[in-house]
Amino acid sequence: MSDVSRPSPAGGPERVPGTPSTTSTGRSGACVAAVIPAAGRGVRLGPGAPKALRALGGTPMLVHAVRAMAASRAVSLVVVVAPPDGAGEVKSLLDAHALPERTDILVVPGGASRQESVKLGLDALPPGHDIVLVHDAARPLVPVDTVDAVIEAVRDGAPAVVPALPLADTVKEIRPAAAPGEPEPVVATPERSLLRAVQTPQGFDRATLVRAHETVTDDVTDDAGMVERTGQQVVVVPGHEEAFKVTRPLDLVLAEAVLARRRLNDVF
Ligand code: CTP
Ligand code: MG
Repeated sequence: MSDVSRPSPAGGPERVPGTPSTTSTGRSGACVAAVIPAAGRGVRLGPGAPKALRALGGTPMLVHAVRAMAASRAVSLVVVVAPPDGAGEVKSLLDAHALPERTDILVVPGGASRQESVKLGLDALPPGHDIVLVHDAARPLVPVDTVDAVIEAVRDGAPAVVPALPLADTVKEIRPAAAPGEPEPVVATPERSLLRAVQTPQGFDRATLVRAHETVTDDVTDDAGMVERTGQQVVVVPGHEEAFKVTRPLDLVLAEAVLARRRLNDVF
């Protein structure tokens, strides 16, 4: 798709025509938009370009993430939240890569925190999309079945849905060390079978997510956590091990291996 990221007037969010209008059938037939926060630097990955723009199998991680959302036939709009000074670069990048024609793309500049970036993406959403996915650009390899399972659970009536996996490691809660260099005392060992590691895309009834972003001011590391604080029920659907987050250098090695395996499977 060559015209995914048309220049926006006056630097505001670009609006691509063709967005379906609001449905009157509730969430079962609701249009789905995906917001992709991609404005982080990727400090833990080490020096280099912003994490979302780093290559994976020769293609920027962000392009993989956009394709992963657009792979779902339900997703008609993707809002990419670019590094604050990099919206132009991201638009050109998306122009240069093939994306499904049926999916509209908006690019907006992000903020200083993930929470802020997601809020800026939500602010740019046009009317008519009553289900919103929020998906980390740093999870480029999430399979479409996981995306569709999240959408289906929201369509079935859940206001907030997270894909999640059981933990392999036992988790300890600690108290911060009394002084630098001192050991951290363990204060609890939560029962592992009741813990889940959550992934993205997280799916929401749009109004529920917007309300959470308008009212919750605590520092929260995921969007479902904000919805929890508003008192709404969040539910879990099965996640996928290929939806892991690229955070540290070893994750890049794993991501390349997953891509290589997919290519091999495509050949046979
Ligand atoms: N993110 C964002 N805006 C920010 C910070 C993060 O849009 N100000 C996005 C990242 O681009 C990423 C997602 O939120 O897609 C998850 O964040 P994380 O994996 O922590 O990425 P970074 O913040 O870039 O990495 P680090 O914390 O190592 O710097
Ligand atoms: Mg971060």
